[in-house]
Amino acid sequence: MIAPTDPDLDLARLADRTDNWHERLKDCQHRLDTDTSEVLSIEGRLTRMVGLTLEAIGFQAPIGSRCEIQGASGNLIEAEVVGFAGETLYLMPIGDIRGLVPNARVRPIRSDSQVPVGEALLGRVVDGACKPLDGKGPLRVKERIPLHGKPVNPLQRAPVRQHLDVGVQAINALFSIGRGQRMGLFAGSGVGKSVLLGMMTRFTEADVIVVGLIGERGREVKEFIEDILGEEGLSRAVVVASPADHSPLMRLHGAMLATSIAEYFRDQGKQVLLLMDSLTRYAQAQREIALAIGEPPATKGYPPSVFSLLPQLVERAGNGANGGAITAIYTVLTEGDDQQDPVADAARAILDGHIVLSRQLSEAGLYPAVDVEASISRVMPQIINEEHFEQAQYFKQIYSTYRQNQDLINVGAYAMGSDPKIDEAIAMFPKLQSLIQQGMNQSIDWQQSVDNLTTTMQLSPPAADETMKMPEIFNPGQNRN
Ligand SMILES: Nc1ncnc2c1ncn2[C@@H]1O[C@H](COP(=O)(O)OP(=O)(O)OP(=O)(O)O)[C@@H](O)[C@H]1O
Ligand SMILES: [Mg+2]
Repeated sequence: MIAPTDPDLDLARLADRTDNWHERLKDCQHRLDTDTSEVLSIEGRLTRMVGLTLEAIGFQAPIGSRCEIQGASGNLIEAEVVGFAGETLYLMPIGDIRGLVPNARVRPIRSDSQVPVGEALLGRVVDGACKPLDGKGPLRVKERIPLHGKPVNPLQRAPVRQHLDVGVQAINALFSIGRGQRMGLFAGSGVGKSVLLGMMTRFTEADVIVVGLIGERGREVKEFIEDILGEEGLSRAVVVASPADHSPLMRLHGAMLATSIAEYFRDQGKQVLLLMDSLTRYAQAQREIALAIGEPPATKGYPPSVFSLLPQLVERAGNGANGGAITAIYTVLTEGDDQQDPVADAARAILDGHIVLSRQLSEAGLYPAVDVEASISRVMPQIINEEHFEQAQYFKQIYSTYRQNQDLINVGAYAMGSDPKIDEAIAMFPKLQSLIQQGMNQSIDWQQSVDNLTTTMQLSPPAADETMKMPEIFNPGQNRN
């Protein structure tokens, strides 16, 4: 039999317990308010490291978020979440990884990647994490914008309609670049990409120039800043340098940071020129990361994610809705002058045109070594007048006729008078070639370039016997064996 309970006694016990809970909660609240050393935080630990990939368990963090790992000597190493499998998170370190130990504490610190931006960036040289490299003190900028950019509604983008004077005659006259266009500069190593980019940096009419030096030699960074940009050039430029010895993630971020900075100035209505040297190194950095976290390689060792990341970066450049524009030029390395390289192929498909530099011309000392037949600017008909367009087309036809018959002409197998088109090409070729050539310190503005093209194309061909004494320099392939 169950003894009847006393309702008064039950109520008294309940009141006691409630008081007790009140006391304990008050105590907890007091400890939370006063004792900061006991504040709870989420953290996990490091379980494995393979190559540059770190594996951590014990916490959750979204892709793209930042974590801090405590090194052996208490130093903090920053890393980004780049993937996961089950409960394991894959992290990629942002900087130096010396001092990492097994079971190191890993703490998520930020769920997104933001970068500091502002007018004070002008004239500065920063790394992929936006830390100053130039010893000119800390960056005094307050605003922060996303590293990965904001998607732009394609219908809000103004079309490319106006030409941009880049100060290089071959480009102004034959492969005109429009404001907001994205161009590729394709070439093998040592053919003159950096020098041509440098010329455009100095001579282009733009409010702000953002230069991304991604994955190139460290030595070139200083050379580019001192010899090519100079004090005056640097004052309207921002340089983001993430050379080859930086971690793949820093190189990837370097390219994104340069684009974010360009976006910031474009959104203020400015004309921005974004120069990226090189897009190939950016793709290679993503390849390193993707392979490290287990993505299977597809084309020539490049995993598929590389080819989705390229348009994500390139699409961020272009015209804005408020009159500002990012005109972007990306160098693309064609290894062994292989134009079928998968990155070159993908870049050619997503860019609005490409300028190809030829090794044959550069070996002959003909700079800039623009390969007229292989280059194209897809927006050209929309940005120049009909007369200019026709003259440029005419130029390319004559140039191409000469190049196709060059071997015959060189060995003397072509008899003058056999084909009037070839006769005309032989007569005009020296003039055409000299229109392309330009010294690296010489600037030729838009109007001058167009006038020179008009003059060249209206020249009557010299007498046939004169043309046969063509200087050797115009037949670059002749003496090679
Ligand atoms: N317009 C030019 N006038 C004279 N020389 C030039 C010109 N352009 C390039 N050169 C010569 O070619 C060399 C290589 O040029 P550059 O460094 O621009 O090549 P690159 O394609 O950037 O090479 P890499 O792929 O190794 O970065 C230069 O050091 C310079 O001597
Ligand atoms: Mg270079």
